[in-house]
This record gives sequence, structure tokens and C-alpha cells, in this order.
Amino acid sequence: MTQQTTAATSPALEIDIPENLARALVTPRSYANGETTDAHRWLRANNPLGFARLEGFDPFWVVTKHEDLSAISRNNKLFLSGEKPTTLTDRATDERAREITGGSPHLVRSLVQMDAPDHPKYRALTQGWFMPQNVKKLEAAIRGIARKNVQKFLDTNGTCDFVKDVALGYPLHVIMSILGVPEQDEPRMLKLTQELFGARDPEQTRVMGEMTPQQLAMMLKMVLDDFATYFGAISEARRKEPKDDLARVIANAIVDGEPISDREAAGYYTIVATAGHDTTSTTTATAMAALADNPELLRTLKADPSKIGAFIDEAIRWAAPVKTFMRSASEDTELRGRKIAKGDWLMLCYESANRDEDVFETPYEFRLDRTPNRQISFGGGGHVCLGQHLARMEMRILYEELLPYVASVRRNGEQRISESTFVCGLKTLPIVWERD
Ligand code: HEM
Repeated sequence: MTQQTTAATSPALEIDIPENLARALVTPRSYANGETTDAHRWLRANNPLGFARLEGFDPFWVVTKHEDLSAISRNNKLFLSGEKPTTLTDRATDERAREITGGSPHLVRSLVQMDAPDHPKYRALTQGWFMPQNVKKLEAAIRGIARKNVQKFLDTNGTCDFVKDVALGYPLHVIMSILGVPEQDEPRMLKLTQELFGARDPEQTRVMGEMTPQQLAMMLKMVLDDFATYFGAISEARRKEPKDDLARVIANAIVDGEPISDREAAGYYTIVATAGHDTTSTTTATAMAALADNPELLRTLKADPSKIGAFIDEAIRWAAPVKTFMRSASEDTELRGRKIAKGDWLMLCYESANRDEDVFETPYEFRLDRTPNRQISFGGGGHVCLGQHLARMEMRILYEELLPYVASVRRNGEQRISESTFVCGLKTLPIVWERD
């Protein structure tokens, strides 16, 4: 299973990154406590394309610069998503996953795990739904959902956990309405998503205590099977009785003249049902944290709501809720003067690219005047986030509706951040606020 590479077999100290930094990059807790932020800063300055060798992991390149992350994301022929695990996986979990699937490194096969020729065909099935002109048609319905969530916020009368009371439920309801999941099933979708993305977060995982890699792979498989079973029933219902939702499109999808398989359909539902809210929830909460930390920001946005779009873009840069995705090289190549060998694995560090001093002035400041804001939280190239226009629009609408009611906001205790090397962000944000 382990793919030895040129770089892996010919150690070169100046290429290797210090072990403590490499360890931080594979440790879920480090993404919650700021260790990876420090590691990224050091790497950008001292070893922007370094090589991580760690016991228990296949070695991988660590991509910390905006320019490199962007170039790799745009070259989908040279940098593949399907050959090796697309999310960071230790060797033992990878081996167990391949035993379960009969050889594939992917327990689920969705758009993010596909390469050409399949990827563009599968992406095209739903792409139209997420293009700006179509997303715009949803604006009135989404504003209605936003207003209900603003009412929930107002009902807290000045003290709330913004994550629990607003940020979790709002994007969840938006994407589930588009997908066609009944409202009463939303808590189940939320729980399954948290179990998948928070598989190693002590508060979100399905299994308490330390897990062996084998147990982790089995647990992930069980969560994915639950998604597949749930959406299998939805598919059946849509084939019998079509509705105007995304489930109908997936249930009846045809690729190369054949209906797509159950595995691909389950993967499709799962990526939309998970990627479509967790990322947006944590970014929505991060935007509120920025307001709590910068009273001037609230005053500026209230005086000029046309700046809310820029505020959301900066919150997306600041939050970078997708921490890493992995790629593998299809050919020998060179990047930043370093030789990448065919089969080498690469870690894309989105948060680091979003703090790149060569692209962002004062990157550790939350600023509204980044025009254009070159944040790269949505990735780029063929796999660029399908839901980026929806995510931006729903967050903008929520703050357009919410801010007129808020005179002031400040923190009210410790925030907590979920622990994951893949997708993580605020899981609590206690605040006190005054009504305007
Ligand atoms: C892909 C981030 C919201 C659906 C991606 C990728 C990133 C990302 C980085 C690229 C993966 C890669 O290059 O391999 C985000 C962020 C969001 C967000 C930061 C919110 C702030 C959403 C929403 C949806 C969504 C609301 C709703 C449907 C998807 C899908 C893909 C994707 C389906 C796979 C695209 C492909 O591989 O072709 N997202 N996402 N995302 N995202 Fe998002």
C-alpha cells in the first residue's frame, strides 16, 4: 500500500520539515489550538514546499504558499484527487480502508475523490444548480430562512451561543431544502456530518476514547453506510414521485448512457449533505466572532451595508474551514525548484495560503479593504467548490438581515474549536449582544 517515492527514499535535510511541525500537521487538536497556524507561518518563511516524513504516514509534501496551492489545484491532470486518499489518512487506516473497499483508498466516492474522465461528467450533473444565475433564483427563499434564524437570535434576548442558536441550523436548513431532505431529518444529517468530519474530535465522534486505525476506518464506514441507507430511500422515493429538488437529479442521473451506480449516488448525496453546511456554519460563526472582536467593524457595516459582501469574503479567508486536501502527482514534475516524483502525495494547506504574506498585506488582520480579496478557501481549478456562490450568498443575506438589530456584541466566555485535519472551526461562540 505504501508508495515509496524518489523524495521519500533520498533524504535531503533541507527539504524535510522539522518533525514537531510535521506532527502538528497530522494532529487534529493542533488545528484547534493554533499550533498549525504557527507551523504554517514558519514553513512559509523557511521551507514553503517542505517534505514531511512521519512514522505511520506515507510521506507528503506540505504546500503552504498561495501561488503553489493555486497552481496545483488548477492542474487536475498532473495533480490527481483519486489515486491516493484525498484527505490525510495514516497508513494503517488507509490499509484497512482498502481492505473494506477491495482496493480503493476511498470509503466514499464523491466528486472530490474523482479525476477525469469521470469527474467532469459527474460534476456536470448538478453544476447548473449551483451557478450564480440559478443561485440568485433562490435568494427570496433563502432570505425567508435567514429571517426565521434572525428571529431565533432575537429570541435569545441578548445572551447566546451563536453557533448552537444560529450558525449551525441556518446553512443546514438551506442545503437540506435544496437537496430535498425533510426538516425533521435535519438533526440526523447534522449528527452524521459531525461524526464524519469530527471523527477524531472527542465531542463529535461516534466512538468515545482512543480508536485504533482499524476502528477508525470501520467507524467511518458505518457513518457513510448510514448516509447511503438514508439517501437510498430518498432516491427510491424520487424515482417514484419526482420533486423539484437535487435528490431527483441525483436519483435519476445518467452518465455515459447508464444510470449512476448506488456507490456514486451515495457519494454525491454525501458530499452535498456534508460539504454544504458544516463549512458555511463555521464561517458564519467566524464572521460573528470578528464583529465581537472589532467594535468598529460593526459600526462600519451598519453605516454601509454594501460592505457586507467584503465582510463575508474576509470571514471566508479568516475561517478557512477546509484545512487540507491531498493530491498525488501523476508524473515527475518540478515545483518551487523541488523535484516532485510521480506518485508523491501533497498536502494543500488552505489556511496557510490565506495568510500568505506575498499575497495579503497584514494577513493576520481582519480587513474589509482587500480588493480583490484573493482568499483561496474554496480551492480552484476543476474541483473548485461547487457551492461557493451559494455559501457567499447565504452568509451575506443572513448578515444583511441580522445587523440592523444589533447595536453591540462581545464575547461571553471561551470559544471552542472542533478538532480535525480536514474540516474544522468554531463549535461554540458564547456572546452577549444589545438590541438596536
Ligand atoms: C469542494 C470549500 C461550501 C459543496 C470544495 C473544495 C473546497 C471547498 C476547498 C475543493 C476541494 C478540492 O479542491 O479538492 C468550501 C468552503 C465553503 C464551502 C470554504 C464555505 C465557506 C460549500 C457549500 C456547498 C459545497 C455551501 C453546497 C453544495 C462542495 C462540493 C465540492 C466542494 C460538492 C466538490 C467539488 C468537486 O470536487 O468538483 N469546497 N466549501 N461547498 N464543495 Fe465546498
